[in-house]
Amino acid sequence: MMKKRSIICLFLCVSLIAAFALTGCGNSTTPTEATEAATEAVTEAPAADGIDYMVLVNKTHKLPDDWEDKLETVHMTNSVGDDVEVEKKAYDAYLKLKADLEKEDIHVDLDSARRSVEAQQRIMDDFTEKYGADYAAKTVAKPGYSEHHTGLALDLYLIIDGKDVVENEDMIQYTDIWATIHSKLADHGFILRYLEDKEYITGYGYEPWHIRYIDDTAKAKEITDKGITFEEYLGAYTGGEVSIDLGSSEIYTEDDLKDAVIQIECKFAFWGDVDLKNIRYAGDEAVTDKNLAWMNELAPDAKYTQVAEFLMDFHTPKDVGEMTFNADSDYTDYQWWLARTDDGGWEIVTFGY
Ligand code: DAL
Ligand code: ZN
Repeated sequence: MMKKRSIICLFLCVSLIAAFALTGCGNSTTPTEATEAATEAVTEAPAADGIDYMVLVNKTHKLPDDWEDKLETVHMTNSVGDDVEVEKKAYDAYLKLKADLEKEDIHVDLDSARRSVEAQQRIMDDFTEKYGADYAAKTVAKPGYSEHHTGLALDLYLIIDGKDVVENEDMIQYTDIWATIHSKLADHGFILRYLEDKEYITGYGYEPWHIRYIDDTAKAKEITDKGITFEEYLGAYTGGEVSIDLGSSEIYTEDDLKDAVIQIECKFAFWGDVDLKNIRYAGDEAVTDKNLAWMNELAPDAKYTQVAEFLMDFHTPKDVGEMTFNADSDYTDYQWWLARTDDGGWEIVTFGY
């Protein structure tokens, strides 16, 4: 198999892709029913005056320019003495949610709600310094692209036996408490924003504490009941329309291959208007010791034990921006090489021709 030798990894020459390579979706996860869920496209007209409570702010949709002019906020002081700024209606709804939870002996407070672009930058710098760029990119939004800029995203923390539990790694342990909190969100016009196993759509890891006010209990209920992301509800995720061909493998199970596809879709989600046609498993012929050795050469610390190749067809937009692809062109048999260790999820090691 000599074709791998002809691959030019585009990490270095496609700056946009390189930037997104940092975002990652974490290790691969069990596939979900994204295709089925991606059907309900909804167009939301912004309110004539005031903010659009259904606004989508994510890795590819930045805060609308006129947002600040329309936003009305209130300030509160949380149990640790921090000032927290929240959009007015979202705060009223939060107070009702909080009271509702207290009936179940669950106590929450607000860690963070509205953040300025500068505050987001400080968080990003802090996380990058502490945990590295990869982790920061899948945990903290790029300044300008954080839902927290809207004032409608609220990070909760827990108060357990009178003690504040504020660190993410501590909070995440309380799965039962979060389940109860999540079950009450829709009644107050909130949704959970960064769902478990949907990182390939949202671009962020699971955040049980990050809730989003949408000012519509019926829609919040629909989103929650369907178990879909806000992106899917708004029709802003089109990955589910792509044709996926897992072929037949004697080596990998269907779930193994779906897991790998999720990683590719996740990276591809940030290729702007590039139109993805299909992703195909390249076949067991690519699963060779030679290719595995090549993966380990490219990532010497990884110690991969398994390799898989996928192929993709796509069409580039008329304006390719900073990407080095040709504009308005078909690309076929574009290669993706993934590898994993015996107990790790798939990682994309290289891609290109
Ligand atoms: N943690 C979320 C993604 C943010 O920084 O906006
Ligand atoms: Zn948050």
